[in-house]
Amino acid sequence: MENLRAAVIGLGFVGRAHLEALRRLGIQVKGLLSSSPDRSAQAARELGLDRGYESLNDLVKDPSVDVVHVCTPNHVEKPLAMDVRQSSALVELAQKHKRVGGVTYNLRFYPLCQEAHAMVQRGVIGEPRLVHGSFLQDWLFCPNDWNWRLEPQLGGELRAVSDIGTHWLDLMMWITGRKVTEVCSDLATVIPVRQRPRGRVETFQKQSAGAFDEVKMTTDDYASILLHFEGMLRGVMTVSQVSAGRRARLWFEVDGSEASLAWHSESPNTMWIGHRNQPNQDMMKDPALMSPEARGYAVYPGGHTEGYPDTFAQLFKDFYAYIRKGDLTARRDFPTFQTGHEELILCDAISLSARERRWVPVNYK
Ligand SMILES: NC(=O)c1ccc[n+]([C@@H]2O[C@H](COP(=O)([O-])OP(=O)(O)OC[C@H]3O[C@@H](n4cnc5c(N)ncnc54)[C@H](O)[C@@H]3O)[C@@H](O)[C@H]2O)c1
Repeated sequence: MENLRAAVIGLGFVGRAHLEALRRLGIQVKGLLSSSPDRSAQAARELGLDRGYESLNDLVKDPSVDVVHVCTPNHVEKPLAMDVRQSSALVELAQKHKRVGGVTYNLRFYPLCQEAHAMVQRGVIGEPRLVHGSFLQDWLFCPNDWNWRLEPQLGGELRAVSDIGTHWLDLMMWITGRKVTEVCSDLATVIPVRQRPRGRVETFQKQSAGAFDEVKMTTDDYASILLHFEGMLRGVMTVSQVSAGRRARLWFEVDGSEASLAWHSESPNTMWIGHRNQPNQDMMKDPALMSPEARGYAVYPGGHTEGYPDTFAQLFKDFYAYIRKGDLTARRDFPTFQTGHEELILCDAISLSARERRWVPVNYK
């Protein structure tokens, strides 16, 4: 298993981030599959890969591929599948066939998110009492911004919550080591009708000026969710894809009985540490100053910033190291299919709570 080889399905926004990270780690990418044989061949040529697969069948029959990265729209990928029935089937299939499944909750792999996790787990901030924060974007701010995520049959019945809220929720549950047990949600479709262009639109593309159809929206541009976690921890999260000026800003604060931590993704190399009886601190990302468990996730010395593309490489480093070891009973420290499945269970509870306007318990069984 030393020389694991990969293939990538879907070469849009995130597929290219996967490819770049794999190349940085020296993992050979055998080929890719796009939405048609022609597009696969063209992308393979552009990206200097050996093979553009003709179909999924063609890819799975290639005996030289050990790991497949699925980077297609949600009806084929995220948070793991379209609903709990599918995600549960994926967890079972992976177990049955002795395969390892990962989900790209890559934001955990910012060096200072690793540091926050290490500090909370070591009790540096005492008992976590409150978590709060947001994930705000503006790329769907205008009625004529368009993406497949707006179509429930491709993106799922939740949008802002499942696309970006699941990252925030995953990060908070992982940093605190506590699962969400109950939710009370308020969801809104702020832009009720959008203009769907008749041509092709890429993720994060600016509005097009051509012909369009008006489409009624059913999914959430915005959500605020009150959260109860295990161990009396409480929290609140706001997500939005219509907040002008916030391109992609995940912010969190964890308030403990001894100190608080706050971090946001637009300034990822600094973490705020709040104190009651001494001056607050701004901790800079610097492996020399970080906890032993976290410093391996900072590749460069202090003063050399690390960002979004680095998080993919760090996640894949852990994932491929696990497969190379070959012991499927060993503890998995990366986000797994089970993690994605539990996020879908959580999304169902959030949806139900908004529909019925009440607190809903989350049952992970
Ligand atoms: N972890 C993260 O940070 C992160 C970030 C962005 C997106 N994502 C997830 O990654 C997935 C892709 O998102 P994106 O923003 O890259 O979308 P995208 O639209 O930019 O790219 C999707 C690509 O998949 C291709 N495609 C569509 N159907 C296909 C099929 N049946 N077979 C092969 N290829 C197909 C499209 O041609 C396109 O190139 C989504 O599930 C999204 O939720 C995760």
